[in-house]
This record gives sequence, C-alpha cells and structure tokens, in this order.
Amino acid sequence: MIKKCLFPAAGYGTRFLPATKAMPKEMLPIVNKPLIQYGVEEALEAGIKDIAIVTGRNKRAIEDHFDISYELESQIQGTDKEQYLTGIRQIMQNATFSYTRQVEMKGLGHAILSGRPLIGDEPFAVVLADDLCLNPDEDGVLEQMVKLYNQFRCSIVAIQEVPRDQTSKYGVIDGQMIRDDIYRVNTMVEKPAPEDAPSNLAIIGRYILTPDIFDLIEQTEPGKGGEIQITDALMKQAQQGCVLAYKFKGRRFDCGMTEGYIEATNYCYENFHKK
Ligand code: UTP
Repeated sequence: MIKKCLFPAAGYGTRFLPATKAMPKEMLPIVNKPLIQYGVEEALEAGIKDIAIVTGRNKRAIEDHFDISYELESQIQGTDKEQYLTGIRQIMQNATFSYTRQVEMKGLGHAILSGRPLIGDEPFAVVLADDLCLNPDEDGVLEQMVKLYNQFRCSIVAIQEVPRDQTSKYGVIDGQMIRDDIYRVNTMVEKPAPEDAPSNLAIIGRYILTPDIFDLIEQTEPGKGGEIQITDALMKQAQQGCVLAYKFKGRRFDCGMTEGYIEATNYCYENFHKK
C-alpha cells in the first residue's frame, strides 16, 4: 500500500522569474489555489495521507500554507469569507505534513534522495507540483498509478506522447508494450535531442517508486546539466528488475512554463470557477 507522497519542491523555478525570486514556484496560484495544493488534493484522492515535502531556502510559504493562520482565522471567523478556507482546512484535517530541506539544489534525483529520512523503507509516490494533472469526474492520475502499483508492485512513471521537437524538455522512455497504456521500460534518456530520442513518450511529474531507488540514486553520478537525474537511477532499476511507464488518463499542464500555466488557469477557471 502506498501511504506516503513526496513533493520535491526545492528547485529555483528560474523559468518563472521574477515571480519566483522570493516565492516558491509551487505556491503560484491557478485561479485561487496554489499549485502544491492541487497536488496534495490529488494525493489524498489516491488515499495517500502522509505528505512529505522537500523544501529549500525561500520556501517557508509552503509550510505556512499547510498550517493554521490564527490572526487570519480569527479575523474572518463567523463571516461569509470563512467558506474560502474550507478546502484547505479539510486537507489539514486529513493529511499530515513533514518537511526536510535540500541544502544544495543538485537535481531531482538528489531532491528525492534528500526525502529519504521522511519516507523510510517503503514504496512511495512522487508529485512534481508544477505538473498539474487533472482528470475531473474520474480517478486522478496518482490514483490510477496507485491501482497499477497494487497490481504490478514495481516502480511506475507516468508518460505522455509529446511532439518530437519537444523531447529535449523531458526524460524519454522506450520499452515493450504490455497493455495499450503500459510499457515495460528498456531505455530512458534524459532530455534527448529529437534525433537521439528513443520515442516520443515523455516522463511527466508523477512517479511511484520502490525504496531500492534510494541506493540507486546514491550510486548515480551527476548526469545531464551536472545534476543527479532520477532517470539515470530509474534506468538502473529497469535493468535490474522492472520499471513500468503508464500512459495516464487525464490532462497535464506544464505550469513551470508560462504557456502551460496560462492554459491551466483558463482550463480551471472555465471548468471549476465560472458560474
Ligand atoms: P524543474 O527543473 O521543473 O524545476 O524540476 P526548477 O529547477 O525549479 O525550475 P527551472 O527549470 O529553474 O525553471 C522539477 C521539480 O524538481 C524539483 C523542483 O522544485 C520541481 O518541482 N527540484 C529540482 C528540486 O526539488 N531540487 C532540485 O535540485 C531540482
């Protein structure tokens, strides 16, 4: 059973400067809710209640968001504005939060390894909050993946088809199709040029990882961009055992880029807010 979800949230968010100069990228709002809250809601819907967050300098706002703000609460108590806090209050009642800091930002693999003390020796989910995944009225993406994990018991990465000219933004897999939406991974390449990409199946920000991944990350040398890449550790895991890639159902918005962020904002406004 997957009980814990890790949110690596220590990155600098340079593609969103200057907004991210003093504010975490994960706190950027999509309409009126920060990105990370969407991610935590997705985890809760998947039955995961222990939320572990890897933060860094300038990320205090994340901890404050999932805590009580006494001054604000007493100010609006008994007024009709209290309704705006219903969602976040429910989250705080249903989830527990733990935090650790990544002191040097040495990449996603390193961020996940920094979360090891919060996870321990059990399988866990990973959500990159700047990838907003929505599948209204049906199972969320993490819930789909948890169900798959219960069946296959190995690491799973979420994938989607991307245009060939965009492979250099992603980890790209190749593998053997074992169901129309599941591949057994043979190869994984981090940010390949289109001509070097083994396919157009790109890894997005949802993972289920078995705990042996931590030792594999520890053995991983810095790769592309001098960062410790999770794809390199996953590649080793695929060679030693099994890693699955799952073509999820739903929509994914890359909110680490302005285009994806605007698209997500318009989608959420149209679908969840507009009366
Ligand atoms: P990104 O590359 O999308 O985030 O990493 P970034 O580095 O913050 O953004 P840019 O490229 O500078 O604009 C994917 C996820 O991994 C986390 C980020 O916070 C994001 O959620 N991350 C990345 C870490 O926690 N630590 C790192 O060292 C790198």
